[in-house]
Amino acid sequence: MKITYHGHSVVLIESAQANIVIDPFISGNGQSTIKPSDLPHLDYIILTHGHNDHVGDAFDLAKTHDATIIAVAELADYLASKGLKVHPMSIGGGYNFNFGRVQYTIAFHGSSYADENHRIIYAGMPGGILLMIEGKTIYHAGDTALYSDMKLLGERYDIDLAFLPIGDNFTMGPEDAVLAAEWIKAKTVVPVHYNTFPIIEQDPQAFVDKVKGDGKVMASGESIML
Ligand code: NI
Ligand code: MN
Repeated sequence: MKITYHGHSVVLIESAQANIVIDPFISGNGQSTIKPSDLPHLDYIILTHGHNDHVGDAFDLAKTHDATIIAVAELADYLASKGLKVHPMSIGGGYNFNFGRVQYTIAFHGSSYADENHRIIYAGMPGGILLMIEGKTIYHAGDTALYSDMKLLGERYDIDLAFLPIGDNFTMGPEDAVLAAEWIKAKTVVPVHYNTFPIIEQDPQAFVDKVKGDGKVMASGESIML
């Protein structure tokens, strides 16, 4: 399968069964080199939490592609109330989709959505995503602090590829993310959620240099085969 990073926390997965995008914040994402209309056909949109830099273009993309949005139940309920197709889940729950399994992990963060009138909508718990697909396990941590249960992820799952936030301020910073990488024992770790805004400026290569094992800086727009 082909996995492409589009800056911030945007990860596109093109698999044999389905095209899936995680946290499609493309409009207003200065790190993205594409427009939402440049994305391939999407079958599913997975949201880690309700913050606008993660929900991003989900409304328009879901409508354009008739895609199903997978989200934590409270956020899914809100999106469904706006006429979107959703699959609600909750933290710790997994579901076997036609393309593979999605399971929500915990994330220590917040979750709300600010609508066009700047009303704050409760969006349930924030999460991370475990995606078991084509025999591989991908972990997208969402926005999170370092938490010691990441050790449990390392013990229970054989993670091939992990996307970890390193921006600091809103999420864990590089030092904590190095420890997270050690605990989750992923074969390859890719830093995300940095340099989109001045307050999350980081040197991703410096992070990767400190990671024990395989770390990789993916440039925005870069793809890897897994
Ligand atoms: Ni957030
Ligand atoms: Mn964020």
